Amino acid sequence: MMEQEEAGRSAAAADKVFTFEDKNTEEKLVVSIPEVLDPQHGMHVWPSAVVLAQYLWTHRAELKGRTVLELGAGVGLPGVVAALCGAQVILSDSSDSPECLQNLRRSCRANGLHRVPVLGLTWGDVSPDLMALPELDVVLGSDVFYDPEDFEDVLVTFVCLLRKNPKAQFWSTYQVRSADWSLQVLLHRWDLSCVQVQLDEFGADKPELAGSGLPGSHSIQMMIISQEEGRG
Ligand SMILES: C[S@@+](CC[C@H](N)C(=O)[O-])C[C@H]1O[C@@H](n2cnc3c(N)ncnc32)[C@H](O)[C@@H]1O
Repeated sequence: MMEQEEAGRSAAAADKVFTFEDKNTEEKLVVSIPEVLDPQHGMHVWPSAVVLAQYLWTHRAELKGRTVLELGAGVGLPGVVAALCGAQVILSDSSDSPECLQNLRRSCRANGLHRVPVLGLTWGDVSPDLMALPELDVVLGSDVFYDPEDFEDVLVTFVCLLRKNPKAQFWSTYQVRSADWSLQVLLHRWDLSCVQVQLDEFGADKPELAGSGLPGSHSIQMMIISQEEGRG
């Protein structure tokens, strides 16, 4: 199975390298992500992912030992960065996308991460795998708010995870594709609150991060969603 995967990979995948640097401490993190030349959503790194990865890199001290789940991970750049920074990471994508789950395993192998679980978790699906997850500190989601039809399912998945740890936070970056889209009504319905994080607070207000040419000219924003105070 592994050999078949590798054969497929050499025909269709190319590694994209990201180098995160801290100019003050001269620390550096090099991450290699195999991307597949396929138009499907989860086969390459999206602009939002490199912004979220930059946030994780600049908050790496906070991540050490924390339990982190990435939703809709695609090729998993943010989750891989979190794992390399010392977090206990679980990567997930839709259980209907086995090729994405395969990509996630490749991304882990490419970075020497042999103990990161990869799960099929479909947003809004209260599956046994979702319910069996450990208490999480942080949920990651990069470009998971791209289709308004899915917005509530993504939030409901996070709300399920809050049952085990009501203090968990959802760190999410998204691409602004329509000025009409808003999460406000859904956040209110599910007793959630949201704080926007400015990109210049973590050095992500640039058209190129980690030497990758991303996020380019896309307008990316970041928010942290948590349970509204006084609830739970
Ligand atoms: C725009 S891509 C973003 C991928 C990755 N997070 C990134 O930023 O590079 C959206 C991802 O969400 C996943 N996805 C779409 N619908 C989903 C669902 N219902 N449940 C779980 N994952 C889903 C796709 O397979 C894809 O990997």
